[in-house]
Amino acid sequence: MSEPASLDPVQAQYEAYPYPARDPRDEAKRLVIGSPSDLREVDHYLFGGKRDWSRPFRALVAGGGTGDALVMLAQHLADRHCPAELHYLDLSDAARRIAEARIEARGLGRLVTFHHGSLLGLAAAAPGPYDYIDCCGVLHHLDDPRAGLRVLAASLAPGGGMGLMVYGALGRTGVYDAQEMLRTLAAGAPDRERLTVARALIRELPPTNRLRRNALVGDHLAGGDAGLYDLLLHARDRAYRVPELAAMIDAAGLAIVAFIEPARYEPATYLNDRDLLERLGPLGAVERAAFAELLAGNLKTHVCYVAARDRAATAAARADDPAAVPVARDVDFAAIARGMVSGSPVLSASFDGLTLRLKLPRLATAILARIDGKRSLGEIHRAVAETAAPGLAWDDFLAEFRVLYAAFNGVNRMLLRVPG
Ligand SMILES: C[S@@+](CC[C@H](N)C(=O)[O-])C[C@H]1O[C@@H](n2cnc3c(N)ncnc32)[C@H](O)[C@@H]1O
Repeated sequence: MSEPASLDPVQAQYEAYPYPARDPRDEAKRLVIGSPSDLREVDHYLFGGKRDWSRPFRALVAGGGTGDALVMLAQHLADRHCPAELHYLDLSDAARRIAEARIEARGLGRLVTFHHGSLLGLAAAAPGPYDYIDCCGVLHHLDDPRAGLRVLAASLAPGGGMGLMVYGALGRTGVYDAQEMLRTLAAGAPDRERLTVARALIRELPPTNRLRRNALVGDHLAGGDAGLYDLLLHARDRAYRVPELAAMIDAAGLAIVAFIEPARYEPATYLNDRDLLERLGPLGAVERAAFAELLAGNLKTHVCYVAARDRAATAAARADDPAAVPVARDVDFAAIARGMVSGSPVLSASFDGLTLRLKLPRLATAILARIDGKRSLGEIHRAVAETAAPGLAWDDFLAEFRVLYAAFNGVNRMLLRVPG
């Protein structure tokens, strides 16, 4: 008799512990949104804010897991009445069943085709081309992540793009120390025993231990069995610094359009010293992002949008286009404007243990009060020039708007849409 083929350890893990843990009944209560793959971001960063959603849109969620990005994409596309075709691919049947139930709970089954298998076999399992590919939290679990990204890149339609997430090395300080100790303590033991051993080790970590000192990761404490397993007992995972991630993206013929949140990847967000900033002046975007990563030390994931190398520089919407409409991403700009105190306003936003204070321009209140998701920059300029700042020239308005945009787009709260 032949033995059943043993599962790849990563596949076996996600059969036993689909991640993240989700209950399809919760679809009645809330939509999980996040980055990448919020459709407002996809439009802004990959389609210049100009995507006509009445046209067909074909997307792949590679390593779709329990369905967060799939459900969000399907709901956002359905809300826009887009004739979309979504493909989900994952190694794990258990994860897929949860994703299927979530899609079913929302009545969005007509949009989605589910596939089982490795993204390395994409060309046969779910052939492209795709206008958009989501690959969130997956590449870092592959034996050869570069090969995986090349496979995905080969399935992109011309003019398409991807949203990626991989682990960040610095924010995960201590995770790999604990993984190594747990291999020493319980490699090869049954899962229940490994979870018990992991919990015992966590209880005994001395205060100086790097995982214990790292308040940024908490899945081993609050994420249940699946969270603990995914963080500390993972069959295979690695983490990236910005330069390694950029090199992998480059090797696939792609380039980074933007990191999310952009301000966290900009040294000037953290530094005031003019001399230091001037010394960084000659650096390119990836080098600046790499510097910001070292400086902040708290990036535990890297989310980015990528496109073919020859179009990455022009893929995103432009903040100097009079036809562009500023769009709020889950904030109410009018309410922010009402709550702003006069003087020199700043925008405060906290991420992973650090509060950023971003400069806002003199006319912040006047501009924010007029952003309603419908008015274009040209119209907002005219309204501001008629009331708050009589005679304000377009270039002067733009100088003010750029500062406002750098802050709110920087924390991923403002995107642009250019209506057709
Ligand atoms: C951490 S989960 C992330 C799931 C989902 N993308 C999300 O962000 O919620 C990783 C998923 O990738 C899947 N996976 C790992 N390696 C894969 C491969 N080679 N091909 C397809 N899926 C894979 C796993 O089965 C698992 O469901």
